[in-house]
Order: sequence, then C-alpha cells, then structure tokens
Amino acid sequence: VKLLLVGFGVVGQGLAEILMTKGAALRAQYGFNPVIVGVGTRSHGTLYHPDGLELDALLAAAQQGGLQHYAGRCLQKDNDIPNWIRTTPADVLVEASITNLQTGQPATDYCRAALETDKHVVLANKGPIALHYAELQKLARYNGLTVRFEGTVMAGTPSLTLAMEALAGCTIHEARGILNGTTNFILTQMTQGMDYATALAQAQQLGYAEADPTADVDGWDAAGKLLILAAALYGKKFTLDEISVTGITGITPADIEAARQANECYKLIARITPDFGSVSPQRIPLSDPLAAVSGATNAITYKTDLLGDVTLVGAGAGRLQTGFALLADLIAIHRQGNIKAFY
Ligand code: HSE
Repeated sequence: VKLLLVGFGVVGQGLAEILMTKGAALRAQYGFNPVIVGVGTRSHGTLYHPDGLELDALLAAAQQGGLQHYAGRCLQKDNDIPNWIRTTPADVLVEASITNLQTGQPATDYCRAALETDKHVVLANKGPIALHYAELQKLARYNGLTVRFEGTVMAGTPSLTLAMEALAGCTIHEARGILNGTTNFILTQMTQGMDYATALAQAQQLGYAEADPTADVDGWDAAGKLLILAAALYGKKFTLDEISVTGITGITPADIEAARQANECYKLIARITPDFGSVSPQRIPLSDPLAAVSGATNAITYKTDLLGDVTLVGAGAGRLQTGFALLADLIAIHRQGNIKAFY
C-alpha cells in the first residue's frame, strides 16, 4: 500500500517510526505492507520515490531540523503539494499537517486532490473533518473511496471507531468527556504543585500541544473535536461560534488548591448533543470517574439508548499514540480490500 504523507511533524514522524519498527510484524500478521512513497511539507516541498522513501533517513533528517537534510533515495522534488498529490501514483493520502480550525486549509484542498485522483484519505488533521466532513465523505463515496480520521479525537484511542462502528444501531444521546491531552496534563501537573508555564512547556516538549498551544489552553482544540463528533455521530454541522467555549487559562493555583481541599479537582469537560456543544473547566468530586483520568489521558462517555453509558479511557495525544491512529485507519482500509492499485 503506497502512502503519500503530508506533514512531517510529531505525528508524521510517529507513523514513520511505527512503520520502521513494526513493518515485519504488520506484514506477517495482517499481510499489510505500507510503504511511504512520498512526504510533503509546506516548508521543504516534497520527496518521492516509487519504491519508498527510507524511513531511517527521513527520521534522521527531521532530527537534524527538516526534510532538506534527507539523504536517502529520492527521485523528485516538487513544491506544489496539491499538484504532487494529483500526479503521484499512490493508494492513500495520510494528512498529518498542522490543524487550522478557521478554514481547514490547505489540508482540505489536499484531501480533495487525493479523492479526485483515486486515493483514500486518512487524517490526524482536525480541520478538514471539523469543517468539511459532509463534502469530503460525499466526494469519497462518489469515487468509491474511504476517508478515516480516528486520530482527530483522542489520538489512537478508538473513540470514533467505537461510536461509528461498534455502537452502530444505538442512538447516542450525548458524548461527554476529557478531549484534550495538553490541558489535562497541565491541570494534573498544577494539582501536584507545578506552575502553569512549566507544565505547558512540558506538554509542548512531550508532543501533546498543537503547534500554537493557545488552541489547547483556550479550549478550541476540544471544541474542534466536538465539531468532528457532531458530524460523525449526528450528521450535524456545528460551527465553532455555536459551541460555548471556556479554556483553562483563568484557573489559578489558588483555585486548584481550594478544589483539592474540598476533595475536588478541575477538568476541562467537553460535551456534545445533537443540539448543543460546550467546553468548560468544571470542578468535579474526586469520586467522579473522570477525576482519575490524569496526564495526557482522555476519556469519553457515550450515553446510548440500548447500552446505557459506554466509557472509553486512553491516550489523548502524543507521537506514537497519534501515529498509531493513522496506522489503525490504514489497516482498516487495507482490510476493506478496495485498494485500487491502478498503476
Ligand atoms: N493538542 C492535542 C491535545 C493533540 O493536547 O489533545 C491531540 O489532538
């Protein structure tokens, strides 16, 4: 399965590392042989080789500061990413570039280019799904292709696969949980006495935060995930303006201490129903199961008609944790058996 990867930040590198370390196991266990034939970034153009780029050389280049340092086999360099996607033979576009929740661009155009030229799409980038879900799904269906986006909500923890596939047939009245790893990490560290700035710096260092971490701390990343859940669960298009959003920047060490003394803690809680979405810091008792969800771990509870509450807890951010989401989606597409292999 030939992959074009757009974006080679934390998540793209995470996928490359997983493919490097698990390639043989993936072939043996699933008959799945993914090969990254191209990598594109806005800052350093594109790399391509039909037999696959060299993963160790890609990761070494990233360590040295960017893909301009790539020293492996490579045939072509092209700075026009949409044109490169259209004209390069491949089976799947993996979109792991920086999220833009205002426009979804340029990633949405990359997805369109892929779907118009017979390539499935797998995303960790939230923008295109949060803003253009219906259009992209329609384009995919029209062309007999698949768009998957597990990595957009709770990294590789299968929140979307659970809701859309395992719970198909249930009505989900509400989804509620902790959907941002960075803020949960910061609140956890602050509870243990660390100051806000140090905790945020650690979250950035660990690869949890967005490129611009204000999206995390002001609640917009979690709100973007609610747009994705609304689209995927309810077929509803909400805009960010329609979600009530408060972040964690107003929470002081004194607030956290006051909560601790009352056997409570702060969590940034996100909630979506077919009619309403909100993100806000809430003080919850330590006996609430969400109080035990700490660090970059996330949790989501689906309120269903047939099963009652179903709760999933797992990684919400991180290099391998989100790289795995891309892998899981790729394996799902491989298992569908409709890789077209037209070249
Ligand atoms: N910045 C996001 C978070 C990454 O902290 O949850 C995963 O979407």
